[in-house]
Amino acid sequence: MRLGIIGGTGSAGLFPGGVPVVLPASQPWGPASSAPVHSVLAGHEVIFLPRHGAADAAAIPPHRVNYRANLWTLRELGVDHVVAINAVGGIDRAAPPGRLVIPDQIIDYTWGREHTFTGDARFPLQHVDFTGPFTPALRNRLVAAAVDLGLDALRTATYGATQGPRLESAAEIDRLERDGCHVVGMTGMPEAGLARELGLSYAMCCVVVNHAAGRVPAGVTIHAQIEDFLAEGMAAVRRLIGALLAGGPVD
Ligand code: HPA
Repeated sequence: MRLGIIGGTGSAGLFPGGVPVVLPASQPWGPASSAPVHSVLAGHEVIFLPRHGAADAAAIPPHRVNYRANLWTLRELGVDHVVAINAVGGIDRAAPPGRLVIPDQIIDYTWGREHTFTGDARFPLQHVDFTGPFTPALRNRLVAAAVDLGLDALRTATYGATQGPRLESAAEIDRLERDGCHVVGMTGMPEAGLARELGLSYAMCCVVVNHAAGRVPAGVTIHAQIEDFLAEGMAAVRRLIGALLAGGPVD
């Protein structure tokens, strides 16, 4: 297994001291969000790619992320398993701020993004099976690592991927809830679908950082304590990935 981590908001400090990989000047799908970095965690190598770009650059918004280039670049570096880290809003009561969520399903509400590699001579047309959007072996190992560490992770959850960058209206969140979504974020798609097209194992670990719109208990603002939840959540994510790596190769 060669593990790649795609880090979302708040994950910039996850792998301090990583060594940037030098990429060829020209990439078939355009430039990745930044140069991935080689890092070592729990004695194992990981390749980390910050989805929104390097910490010192202006953040690339969710609708402008070059998801195709990011995944292609990781695969070119030999990555075969990808763990995506995503900050999300909590819709369901079981997903309050601070909780980790390892989703097992996803619904795509995004639009206008480059969502497939297929469509021209660069990549043959394929209709990939997406019944289970996350790879069971990798997801199960994440779940097992969370259990081993005593991390309180929600393990059956549907991620709703919205377009952003604005947050949702309360009615939009009501609709997502009726659709069965437990958490909402802006970057899960097209990333998960593109990973499937490339044949990469892919699983997601979400950190709930706020109550979704209209789910905010009285007296709490939507942005209250996001930074605290992010910092705590990312510390937990680092432990989780360390445990995943220490557990040996994943099928
Ligand atoms: N909505 C969409 N994306 C998000 C949210 C949210 O409430 N919180 C973090 N990412």
